[in-house]
Amino acid sequence: MQYGYADKKHEEFPPMVIVSIVNICNLKCQHCFWPKLASMEGYRGNMMSWEHWKKVIDEMSYHTYSVLNLGTDGEPLMHTDFIKMLRYAKSQNIFPINMTTNGILLKGQILETIINEELIDTINVSLDAFTTNTFVKIRGGKGSTFSKIKENVINAYKLKTRYKKKIKIMVNIIDQPLARSELKDFQDYWNGKVDLVITRKYYTATAETGGTGPDITGDQDFQKTDRWPCTLFWRRITITDDGGIQYCIDDWLHKSRLGHLDQNSIKDIWTSKTYNKLREYHLKGQQHKNPYCADCTEWQGMTWDFDYFVAMEKMIGKQLL
Ligand SMILES: C[S@@+](CC[C@H](N)C(=O)[O-])C[C@H]1O[C@@H](n2cnc3c(N)ncnc32)[C@H](O)[C@@H]1O
Repeated sequence: MQYGYADKKHEEFPPMVIVSIVNICNLKCQHCFWPKLASMEGYRGNMMSWEHWKKVIDEMSYHTYSVLNLGTDGEPLMHTDFIKMLRYAKSQNIFPINMTTNGILLKGQILETIINEELIDTINVSLDAFTTNTFVKIRGGKGSTFSKIKENVINAYKLKTRYKKKIKIMVNIIDQPLARSELKDFQDYWNGKVDLVITRKYYTATAETGGTGPDITGDQDFQKTDRWPCTLFWRRITITDDGGIQYCIDDWLHKSRLGHLDQNSIKDIWTSKTYNKLREYHLKGQQHKNPYCADCTEWQGMTWDFDYFVAMEKMIGKQLL
Protein backbone atom coordinates (compact mmCIF):
# COMPACT_ATOMS: atom_id res chain seq x y z
CA MET A 1 0.00 0.00 0.00
CA GLN A 2 1.26 3.44 -0.98
CA TYR A 3 0.71 5.87 1.88
CA GLY A 4 0.70 9.63 1.48
CA TYR A 5 -0.97 12.23 -0.71
CA ALA A 6 -3.27 10.87 -3.41
CA ASP A 7 -2.25 13.79 -5.61
CA LYS A 8 0.60 16.30 -5.57
CA LYS A 9 -1.80 19.23 -5.26
CA HIS A 10 -2.83 17.94 -1.83
CA GLU A 11 0.65 18.81 -0.52
CA GLU A 12 -0.55 22.39 -0.63
CA PHE A 13 -4.14 22.08 0.57
CA PRO A 14 -6.21 19.24 2.03
CA PRO A 15 -8.62 17.35 -0.23
CA MET A 16 -11.26 17.64 2.48
CA VAL A 17 -11.98 20.40 5.01
CA ILE A 18 -14.24 19.31 7.83
CA VAL A 19 -15.99 22.20 9.50
CA SER A 20 -17.71 21.90 12.80
CA ILE A 21 -20.03 24.91 12.65
CA VAL A 22 -21.54 24.25 16.10
CA ASN A 23 -20.65 22.36 19.26
CA ILE A 24 -24.28 21.97 20.31
CA CYS A 25 -26.58 19.05 19.62
CA ASN A 26 -30.21 18.01 20.09
CA LEU A 27 -29.52 14.30 20.71
CA LYS A 28 -27.39 12.40 23.18
CA CYS A 29 -26.00 9.39 21.34
CA GLN A 30 -24.43 6.77 23.52
CA HIS A 31 -21.47 6.27 21.17
CA CYS A 32 -20.73 9.97 20.88
CA PHE A 33 -18.48 12.11 23.07
CA TRP A 34 -20.75 15.15 22.82
CA PRO A 35 -22.97 14.40 25.88
CA LYS A 36 -19.82 14.09 27.97
CA LEU A 37 -18.41 17.27 26.50
CA ALA A 38 -21.62 19.17 27.25
CA SER A 39 -21.49 18.12 30.89
CA MET A 40 -17.87 19.16 31.37
CA GLU A 41 -16.96 22.18 33.42
CA GLY A 42 -16.26 25.13 31.18
CA TYR A 43 -18.33 23.85 28.26
CA ARG A 44 -19.97 26.68 26.36
CA GLY A 45 -22.33 26.08 23.47
CA ASN A 46 -21.09 27.93 20.41
CA MET A 47 -21.87 28.62 16.78
CA MET A 48 -19.14 29.47 14.29
CA SER A 49 -18.85 33.18 13.59
CA TRP A 50 -19.49 34.60 10.15
CA GLU A 51 -15.88 35.86 9.99
CA HIS A 52 -14.46 32.38 10.56
CA TRP A 53 -16.88 30.80 8.10
CA LYS A 54 -16.05 33.37 5.43
CA LYS A 55 -12.35 32.81 5.97
CA VAL A 56 -12.71 29.06 5.43
CA ILE A 57 -14.89 29.46 2.34
CA ASP A 58 -12.73 32.17 0.79
CA GLU A 59 -9.62 30.06 1.17
CA MET A 60 -11.34 26.94 -0.11
CA SER A 61 -12.54 28.79 -3.19
CA TYR A 62 -8.90 28.91 -4.39
CA HIS A 63 -8.61 25.14 -4.10
CA THR A 64 -11.50 23.93 -6.19
CA TYR A 65 -10.80 20.23 -5.67
CA SER A 66 -11.32 20.38 -1.91
CA VAL A 67 -14.48 18.89 -0.41
CA LEU A 68 -16.36 20.81 2.29
CA ASN A 69 -17.76 18.51 4.94
CA LEU A 70 -20.06 19.80 7.70
CA GLY A 71 -20.42 17.67 10.78
CA THR A 72 -18.34 16.49 13.75
CA ASP A 73 -18.88 18.29 17.07
CA GLY A 74 -22.62 18.95 16.96
CA GLU A 75 -25.73 19.18 14.82
CA PRO A 76 -25.00 21.54 11.89
CA LEU A 77 -28.67 22.37 11.24
CA MET A 78 -28.80 24.02 14.67
CA HIS A 79 -26.65 26.91 13.45
CA THR A 80 -29.06 29.85 13.22
CA ASP A 81 -27.26 31.24 10.13
CA PHE A 82 -27.15 27.89 8.38
CA ILE A 83 -28.86 28.99 5.15
CA LYS A 84 -26.90 32.24 4.90
CA MET A 85 -23.64 30.34 5.38
CA LEU A 86 -24.45 27.72 2.76
CA ARG A 87 -25.61 30.37 0.29
CA TYR A 88 -22.25 32.06 0.66
CA ALA A 89 -20.37 28.78 0.16
CA LYS A 90 -22.32 28.05 -3.01
CA SER A 91 -21.80 31.62 -4.27
CA GLN A 92 -18.06 30.86 -4.03
CA ASN A 93 -18.56 27.65 -6.06
CA ILE A 94 -17.58 25.26 -3.28
CA PHE A 95 -18.24 21.74 -4.55
CA PRO A 96 -19.04 19.22 -3.31
CA ILE A 97 -20.51 20.07 0.06
CA ASN A 98 -21.53 17.28 2.40
CA MET A 99 -23.52 17.60 5.59
CA THR A 100 -23.81 14.89 8.22
CA THR A 101 -26.94 15.43 10.26
CA ASN A 102 -29.19 13.59 12.67
CA GLY A 103 -32.12 14.62 10.46
CA ILE A 104 -34.31 16.10 13.21
CA LEU A 105 -34.37 19.58 11.65
CA LEU A 106 -34.27 18.39 8.06
CA LYS A 107 -37.80 19.54 7.31
CA GLY A 108 -40.02 22.53 6.52
CA GLN A 109 -38.56 25.72 5.12
CA ILE A 110 -34.93 24.75 5.76
CA LEU A 111 -35.33 21.56 3.73
CA GLU A 112 -37.22 23.36 0.93
CA THR A 113 -34.47 25.99 0.69
CA ILE A 114 -31.61 23.47 0.78
CA ILE A 115 -33.18 21.47 -2.00
CA ASN A 116 -34.53 24.30 -4.13
CA GLU A 117 -31.26 26.19 -4.09
CA GLU A 118 -29.10 23.04 -4.09
CA LEU A 119 -27.14 24.39 -1.13
CA ILE A 120 -25.67 20.97 -0.30
CA ASP A 121 -24.58 18.20 -2.65
CA THR A 122 -24.72 15.19 -0.35
CA ILE A 123 -26.75 14.83 2.82
CA ASN A 124 -25.79 12.03 5.16
CA VAL A 125 -28.39 11.23 7.81
CA SER A 126 -27.12 9.30 10.83
CA LEU A 127 -29.87 6.89 11.81
CA ASP A 128 -27.74 4.27 13.56
CA ALA A 129 -30.61 1.82 13.97
CA PHE A 130 -33.23 -0.17 12.16
CA THR A 131 -35.62 -0.74 15.05
CA THR A 132 -37.12 1.99 17.22
CA ASN A 133 -35.92 0.24 20.34
CA THR A 134 -32.30 0.35 19.19
CA PHE A 135 -32.63 3.97 18.06
CA VAL A 136 -33.85 4.96 21.52
CA LYS A 137 -30.95 3.11 23.16
CA ILE A 138 -28.27 4.39 20.81
CA ARG A 139 -29.36 7.89 19.84
CA GLY A 140 -31.06 8.81 23.08
CA GLY A 141 -34.14 10.22 21.36
CA LYS A 142 -37.78 9.19 21.68
CA GLY A 143 -39.44 6.57 19.50
CA SER A 144 -41.56 9.33 17.95
CA THR A 145 -38.37 11.22 17.05
CA PHE A 146 -37.17 8.20 15.10
CA SER A 147 -40.43 8.05 13.11
CA LYS A 148 -40.20 11.77 12.34
CA ILE A 149 -36.56 11.52 11.21
CA LYS A 150 -37.39 8.62 8.89
CA GLU A 151 -40.29 10.67 7.51
CA ASN A 152 -37.92 13.62 6.99
CA VAL A 153 -35.49 11.43 5.02
CA ILE A 154 -38.21 10.00 2.80
CA ASN A 155 -39.67 13.45 2.26
CA ALA A 156 -36.26 14.96 1.41
CA TYR A 157 -35.69 12.23 -1.16
CA LYS A 158 -39.16 12.78 -2.67
CA LEU A 159 -38.67 16.55 -2.83
CA LYS A 160 -35.31 16.43 -4.56
CA THR A 161 -36.70 13.89 -7.02
CA ARG A 162 -39.80 15.98 -7.70
CA TYR A 163 -37.72 19.17 -8.21
CA LYS A 164 -35.20 17.21 -10.33
CA LYS A 165 -32.28 18.32 -8.15
CA LYS A 166 -28.88 16.64 -8.12
CA ILE A 167 -28.64 16.47 -4.30
CA LYS A 168 -27.87 12.96 -3.07
CA ILE A 169 -29.18 11.54 0.16
CA MET A 170 -27.60 8.79 2.14
CA VAL A 171 -28.31 7.15 5.48
CA ASN A 172 -25.77 5.54 7.76
CA ILE A 173 -25.58 3.10 10.61
CA ILE A 174 -22.58 2.44 12.83
CA ASP A 175 -21.41 -1.13 13.19
CA GLN A 176 -21.52 -1.22 16.98
CA PRO A 177 -22.57 -4.03 19.33
CA LEU A 178 -26.10 -2.72 19.96
CA ALA A 179 -26.88 -2.40 16.25
CA ARG A 180 -24.90 -5.28 14.81
CA SER A 181 -27.86 -7.62 14.42
CA GLU A 182 -29.76 -4.93 12.48
CA LEU A 183 -27.18 -4.03 9.85
CA LYS A 184 -28.71 -6.21 7.14
CA ASP A 185 -32.31 -5.18 7.83
CA PHE A 186 -31.16 -1.58 7.76
CA GLN A 187 -29.52 -2.04 4.34
CA ASP A 188 -32.51 -3.93 2.95
CA TYR A 189 -35.02 -1.38 4.19
CA TRP A 190 -33.21 1.73 2.94
CA ASN A 191 -31.85 0.41 -0.34
CA GLY A 192 -33.90 2.04 -3.10
CA LYS A 193 -35.40 4.63 -0.73
CA VAL A 194 -32.26 6.82 -0.73
CA ASP A 195 -29.20 7.19 -2.97
CA LEU A 196 -26.75 5.32 -0.74
CA VAL A 197 -26.77 3.29 2.46
CA ILE A 198 -23.53 2.98 4.39
CA THR A 199 -22.26 1.18 7.45
CA ARG A 200 -19.63 3.07 9.40
CA LYS A 201 -16.93 1.84 11.72
CA TYR A 202 -17.29 2.32 15.43
CA TYR A 203 -14.70 4.56 17.11
CA THR A 204 -14.01 4.64 20.79
CA ALA A 205 -12.78 8.25 21.04
CA THR A 206 -9.75 6.88 22.84
CA ALA A 207 -7.80 10.07 22.63
CA GLU A 208 -10.23 11.49 25.17
CA THR A 209 -11.17 8.49 27.19
CA GLY A 210 -7.71 7.02 27.66
CA GLY A 211 -8.45 4.11 25.42
CA THR A 212 -9.70 0.61 25.76
CA GLY A 213 -6.92 -1.11 23.84
CA PRO A 214 -6.25 -1.63 20.19
CA ASP A 215 -9.33 -3.71 19.44
CA ILE A 216 -12.36 -1.48 18.92
CA THR A 217 -15.18 -3.82 18.25
CA GLY A 218 -14.02 -7.00 19.89
CA ASP A 219 -14.08 -8.91 16.65
CA GLN A 220 -11.05 -7.43 14.97
CA ASP A 221 -7.63 -8.84 15.46
CA PHE A 222 -5.31 -5.89 15.15
CA GLN A 223 -2.13 -5.56 17.11
CA LYS A 224 -0.47 -2.21 17.73
CA THR A 225 2.38 -3.40 15.53
CA ASP A 226 -0.01 -3.64 12.57
CA ARG A 227 -0.67 0.05 12.81
CA TRP A 228 -0.67 1.95 9.55
CA PRO A 229 -0.28 5.72 9.15
CA CYS A 230 -3.49 7.60 9.93
CA THR A 231 -5.14 8.72 6.68
CA LEU A 232 -6.25 12.00 8.24
CA PHE A 233 -2.78 13.52 7.92
CA TRP A 234 -2.97 13.39 4.12
CA ARG A 235 -6.70 13.62 3.52
CA ARG A 236 -8.61 15.81 5.95
CA ILE A 237 -8.20 18.78 8.23
CA THR A 238 -10.72 19.86 10.86
CA ILE A 239 -11.87 23.38 11.69
CA THR A 240 -13.70 23.74 15.00
CA ASP A 241 -16.65 25.99 15.84
CA ASP A 242 -14.37 28.52 17.53
CA GLY A 243 -11.99 28.79 14.57
CA GLY A 244 -9.37 26.27 15.73
CA ILE A 245 -7.46 24.24 13.14
CA GLN A 246 -6.64 20.65 14.15
CA TYR A 247 -5.43 17.46 12.52
CA CYS A 248 -7.76 14.99 14.25
CA ILE A 249 -11.45 14.79 13.38
CA ASP A 250 -12.21 12.90 16.56
CA ASP A 251 -10.54 15.33 18.91
CA TRP A 252 -13.38 16.81 20.96
CA LEU A 253 -11.02 18.47 23.41
CA HIS A 254 -8.85 20.09 20.74
CA LYS A 255 -5.60 18.53 21.87
CA SER A 256 -4.55 18.21 18.24
CA ARG A 257 -5.04 21.90 17.52
CA LEU A 258 -2.13 23.38 15.56
CA GLY A 259 -3.46 26.84 14.77
CA HIS A 260 -6.37 29.22 14.60
CA LEU A 261 -8.18 30.99 11.76
CA ASP A 262 -7.51 34.34 13.47
CA GLN A 263 -3.78 33.86 12.98
CA ASN A 264 -3.32 31.19 10.33
CA SER A 265 -4.63 30.10 6.98
CA ILE A 266 -5.59 26.46 6.51
CA LYS A 267 -2.70 26.15 4.07
CA ASP A 268 -0.23 27.58 6.66
CA ILE A 269 -1.11 24.81 9.06
CA TRP A 270 -1.46 21.97 6.51
CA THR A 271 2.02 22.71 5.13
CA SER A 272 3.62 23.54 8.50
CA LYS A 273 6.77 21.90 9.83
CA THR A 274 4.82 20.46 12.74
CA TYR A 275 2.24 18.81 10.48
CA ASN A 276 5.04 17.37 8.35
CA LYS A 277 6.85 16.07 11.42
CA LEU A 278 3.68 14.28 12.53
CA ARG A 279 3.29 12.82 9.03
CA GLU A 280 6.87 11.58 9.23
CA TYR A 281 6.21 9.85 12.57
CA HIS A 282 3.27 8.04 11.03
CA LEU A 283 5.16 7.00 7.91
CA LYS A 284 8.03 5.67 10.03
CA GLY A 285 5.72 3.72 12.37
CA GLN A 286 6.61 6.10 15.22
CA GLN A 287 3.06 7.27 16.00
CA HIS A 288 3.83 6.92 19.72
CA LYS A 289 6.24 9.88 19.45
CA ASN A 290 3.20 12.15 19.28
CA PRO A 291 1.48 11.77 22.66
CA TYR A 292 -1.92 12.57 21.14
CA CYS A 293 -1.64 9.71 18.63
CA ALA A 294 0.04 7.28 21.02
CA ASP A 295 -3.05 5.69 22.57
CA CYS A 296 -5.37 6.13 19.61
CA THR A 297 -7.31 3.20 18.20
CA GLU A 298 -9.33 5.23 15.69
CA TRP A 299 -6.69 4.70 13.00
CA GLN A 300 -8.23 1.24 12.53
CA GLY A 301 -11.37 2.88 11.23
CA MET A 302 -9.40 5.13 8.88
CA THR A 303 -8.43 2.71 6.14
CA TRP A 304 -6.54 3.73 3.03
CA ASP A 305 -8.74 1.88 0.57
CA PHE A 306 -12.11 2.94 1.94
CA ASP A 307 -13.15 6.13 3.61
CA TYR A 308 -15.72 8.86 3.31
CA PHE A 309 -14.37 9.93 -0.08
CA VAL A 310 -15.51 6.64 -1.58
CA ALA A 311 -19.09 7.16 -0.38
CA MET A 312 -19.12 10.70 -1.76
CA GLU A 313 -17.56 9.66 -5.06
CA LYS A 314 -20.24 6.99 -5.48
CA MET A 315 -22.96 9.56 -4.96
CA ILE A 316 -21.74 12.44 -7.07
CA GLY A 317 -20.04 10.31 -9.73
CA LYS A 318 -16.78 12.27 -9.64
CA GLN A 319 -13.31 11.30 -8.48
CA LEU A 320 -12.44 13.38 -5.45
CA LEU A 321 -9.06 12.07 -4.36
C1 LIG B 1 -20.78 13.62 15.87
S1 LIG B 1 -21.97 13.49 14.60
C2 LIG B 1 -22.33 15.15 14.19
C3 LIG B 1 -23.35 15.30 13.10
C4 LIG B 1 -24.80 15.01 13.47
N1 LIG B 1 -25.18 15.53 14.73
C5 LIG B 1 -25.13 13.52 13.35
O1 LIG B 1 -25.67 12.96 14.30
O2 LIG B 1 -24.88 12.98 12.29
C6 LIG B 1 -21.08 12.95 13.17
C7 LIG B 1 -21.07 11.49 12.92
O3 LIG B 1 -20.15 10.88 13.80
C8 LIG B 1 -20.69 9.69 14.25
N2 LIG B 1 -20.06 9.27 15.49
C9 LIG B 1 -20.05 9.86 16.69
N3 LIG B 1 -19.41 9.10 17.60
C10 LIG B 1 -18.97 8.00 16.93
C11 LIG B 1 -18.26 6.84 17.30
N4 LIG B 1 -17.85 6.65 18.54
N5 LIG B 1 -18.00 5.92 16.34
C12 LIG B 1 -18.42 6.09 15.08
N6 LIG B 1 -19.08 7.18 14.66
C13 LIG B 1 -19.37 8.12 15.58
C14 LIG B 1 -22.17 10.04 14.43
O4 LIG B 1 -23.00 8.93 14.59
C15 LIG B 1 -22.41 10.81 13.15
O5 LIG B 1 -22.70 9.93 12.08
